[in-house]
Amino acid sequence: MPSARLIVDHDFIISDLDRRIFGTFVEHMGRCVYTGIFEPGHPTADDQGFRQDVAELTRELGTTIVRYPGGNFLSGYNWEDGVGPVEKRPRRLDLAWFSTETNAFGTNEFMDWSRKVGVEPMFGVNLGTRDHDEARRFIEYCNHPGGTELSELRKSHGYEKPHDIKFWCLGNEMDGPWQIGAKTAGEYGRIAHETAKVMRWVDPSIELAACGSSNRDMATYARWEYEVLDHCFDYVDFISLHTYFQNPHDSTEEFLGNIELLEAFIREVVAIADAVAATRRSPKRIMLSLDEWNVWYKARTHEHLRKPGWPEHPPLIEEVYNTEDALLVGGALITLLNNADRVKCACIAQLVNIIGPIMTEPGGAAWRQTIFHPFALTARHAHGRVLRSLISSPSYAGKTAPEIPYLHACVTEDETTGQVTIFALNRHLGEPMDLEVLLRGFGGNRQVVEALQIHHPNMKAVNTKDAQDTVAPAPIEKVSLEGDRLQARLLPGSWNVIVTAPR
Ligand code: AHR
Repeated sequence: MPSARLIVDHDFIISDLDRRIFGTFVEHMGRCVYTGIFEPGHPTADDQGFRQDVAELTRELGTTIVRYPGGNFLSGYNWEDGVGPVEKRPRRLDLAWFSTETNAFGTNEFMDWSRKVGVEPMFGVNLGTRDHDEARRFIEYCNHPGGTELSELRKSHGYEKPHDIKFWCLGNEMDGPWQIGAKTAGEYGRIAHETAKVMRWVDPSIELAACGSSNRDMATYARWEYEVLDHCFDYVDFISLHTYFQNPHDSTEEFLGNIELLEAFIREVVAIADAVAATRRSPKRIMLSLDEWNVWYKARTHEHLRKPGWPEHPPLIEEVYNTEDALLVGGALITLLNNADRVKCACIAQLVNIIGPIMTEPGGAAWRQTIFHPFALTARHAHGRVLRSLISSPSYAGKTAPEIPYLHACVTEDETTGQVTIFALNRHLGEPMDLEVLLRGFGGNRQVVEALQIHHPNMKAVNTKDAQDTVAPAPIEKVSLEGDRLQARLLPGSWNVIVTAPR
C-alpha cells in the first residue's frame, strides 16, 4: 500500500487566502440565466422570478463572487438593452451562441439576485463591438451616486443607490478568433489601457482584470500576456487565465495529471507579469484571476454549441459530471490554494446548467452535480491563510509531467477559530494510501472535527435528477490525531478534507 507524508508548520505561510477564488460565472448562454437562476412561473420563483431552489444551492455551494454577463456573449452585448422597463427591452440576435436574447434579465436583475443570494458581482465590459466610451458610460450608470444623466437614469429604473460594483473584466477572450471583435495583442492592449484609465477616473475604487489568453494552447500564448500587460500594466490589477480540462484518451490517471498543467500555467503567467514589472523596475505585482475554469469536453461538439433557428435559451453545453471530474475539480482547487499568493480570484464556469455544478429542469427539480461537492467543501473549510506543505509521496510518470505525485494536498489555517484543514487528493487508482501529517507548531491538544471524502468505485458515476446523491461526501473511516501526528487512510481515487481544531 502506498504511503505519503505531509509536514506543515504554523509559521511557514504562503499567503492569506483571498476568498474570491471561490467564484462562479453566470453568462447569458443556454439555460444559465433563463431556467437556471431566473424562471418566472417556476414553483420556487420569488416575486422577481429568481428560482429559490437554485438560490439555496448557490448559497450552499459557498460561491463568493459571480462573473456576469459573459463570456463570449459579452462581446456583442449592449448593456442599455438590459435596463429599464422590461416590456421596452429589445429582442436581439446573440451571435456568440446563435440564440435570441430577450433581455428580460439584465444588470439590475443580476444585482438584485446577487444581493439576495449574498455574492459579490463581477462585471465585464464589452470590448468586442464597443469601446472605452461605452465602458465609461456603463460604470457611470452603475457606480456614480447621482446628478448626471446616466446615474439619474439608474435611479429612474428604481435603483437610488449606486451598485458599487468593484471588480470589472476588460472584455472576454479577445485573442480568440471565435470572439465578436477579436483583436491582436497590440489592438487589445491599447483599448484595455484606455478603458481602464477612464473607468478608474469615474470610480477609482474599482479593480480591473485584463484578458489573458483564452487558453494555454493558443498560438499567441505568453507573447499575448506580455504585450497586453506592457500596454496596460499601470492601470490593471489582474490578468485573466482561462482553462477547461479535457480527457481525450479516456484515462483517469492522465486526466488527473492535468492538474500539473494548471500549476505550470499559473507559474508562467506570474513570470510574464513579473517580467513586465521588471522592465519598469516596478514593485507592483499583477495578480491572477482564473475567471473561467472547469472540466469541459463531453458536451463540446457542434450540436452542443449551437441549435438551429435562433431559439431562446436552448440547452447548450450541459456537461454531466462524473466521479473523476469531481476529483479533478477538487485537485485544481488545491492548486489554487497553494498559489494563494498570486491567484486572488477564480471563477468555476459556469454556475448552473452550462458546464455547471448545479443542474435544473425547467419547471422542475434542481440538483448537485458531482463537482458541486469538492467546491462546496473547500469553500466551507478553507479560511484564513494557506500554509506551505512539504509533501513526500510516490509518483507516476504522466504526459503532463515526468513525476506526478500520487498525493496532491494543501493546508489552510483559520487563526480566528484555530481550525487547521487538510485537503488531499489521492491519485493512486489501485490502492488506498496511508497518509501521515505532521502538524508542527499548532499546540498538540487538537482533535479531528470533520473528515469527509469524495469517492466512488466507478469513475464514470454521475448524479441525476432521479439519483442525486450517487457521488456525495461520505465520512473517512480511518482517521486519527495524536499530539501533532495525524493519520488517515485515503481510498484509491479519492478527494478528502480533514478539519482539525483545538480541543
Ligand atoms: O463558458 C463558456 C465559454 O467558454 C465562454 O463564453 C467563453 O468565454 C469560453 O470560451
